[in-house]
Amino acid sequence: MISIIVPTYQEVENLKPLSQMIQIALTDAGETSYEIIIMDDNSQDGSVEKVAELVEKHPIRIVTRTENRGLSPAVIDGFGEAKGEFVVVMDADLSHPATAIPEMVKQLRNGESDFVLGSRYVEGGSIDESWTLWRYINSVVATIPALPITRVKDPMSGFFAVRKADIPNAYNLSPIGYKIALEVMVKGDFPTVSEVPIHFVDRIHGESKLTLTEQLKYLRHLRRLYQYKFQTKAEFFQFAFVGASGFIVDLAFYLILQMFGTSHTLARAISFWPAVTWNWMLNRTITFSHREKTKKSTQWGAFASSSLLGFTVNYGTYYTLTKYVPFFEEHMVLALIVGVLMGMGFNFSISNLFIFKK
Ligand code: GDD
Repeated sequence: MISIIVPTYQEVENLKPLSQMIQIALTDAGETSYEIIIMDDNSQDGSVEKVAELVEKHPIRIVTRTENRGLSPAVIDGFGEAKGEFVVVMDADLSHPATAIPEMVKQLRNGESDFVLGSRYVEGGSIDESWTLWRYINSVVATIPALPITRVKDPMSGFFAVRKADIPNAYNLSPIGYKIALEVMVKGDFPTVSEVPIHFVDRIHGESKLTLTEQLKYLRHLRRLYQYKFQTKAEFFQFAFVGASGFIVDLAFYLILQMFGTSHTLARAISFWPAVTWNWMLNRTITFSHREKTKKSTQWGAFASSSLLGFTVNYGTYYTLTKYVPFFEEHMVLALIVGVLMGMGFNFSISNLFIFKK
């Protein structure tokens, strides 16, 4: 059986054409065993009554949700409701063509693919002619940062099919906002992912609920997914980025203090502290924001001590290389770079393992 999950909010006018579109597409392809599950966020627009009418002719039911509203949570609850071996997720507004469903399910059934996405950006796929340049740019800009964490050309699509048994555990899924397909793709274990071309049609009835807030949520969601996918690598790059910004703070204090007559040795000794505090603050709020929030003063002390040790490692490496390795005697800048990398590696390891607790 195919379970078609449709998240809805105020889509009463689309429920009938949607059911008909699905019926025609599936029966034409000989797929007679299916269910349509409407996951509605208590729209109170007559959707419940409309489904009660449609039930006469279609295998459709509605689940009214009153808590944890939103497109993605509605789909995740829908996974729990699905009785079929194959699960398809699609929008209610007729923008996703049901005619693609038989091909999507066929690929799962044959074992050709483990995750099938309805895609606008593969050969044969297209978008509605009515799309404005602004909407197109918006879509492309949102798509690009998601490409490195997926293997598809249209990671923004909300139309996909999976085997029910392959859906990641609900507690592992925590999308913020709209991008449920992206969440499932990144968190699930899908050896093969494929894309089926679709023509994306703009809705006729009702309105899109994709607001600016949803788009900002998408940025937070992306950050989480990067962290999930690359974990240590992502943390390391953020740590390095924070370190580079700390260097600017260090340099600024060093120069300003000297402008006020402080000797360069004293200025150097003082400027270290605001830079360390800056780095600690950013690492706590950005790099390791998902880690346990331990007591600030203790954590700052540990971070400052580790940074002092890191500086020793950095300088010690530079000193040793330039004193004992002939190659570096002639390439002191390289020795300096190696020192900086060693110091940063040391700092990162201590912060990652001991200071910002998991
Ligand atoms: N349950 C529930 N709760 N459903 C919701 C909610 C909500 O808070 N918000 C939106 N939906 C439902 C809509 O009723 C619709 O069926 C579907 O989710 C998509 O919402 P739209 O608001 O129509 O999205 P869109 O057309 O702007 O976005 C489409 O394009 C994106 C790619 O550009 C959708 O297809 C997205 O899935 C897709 O990612």
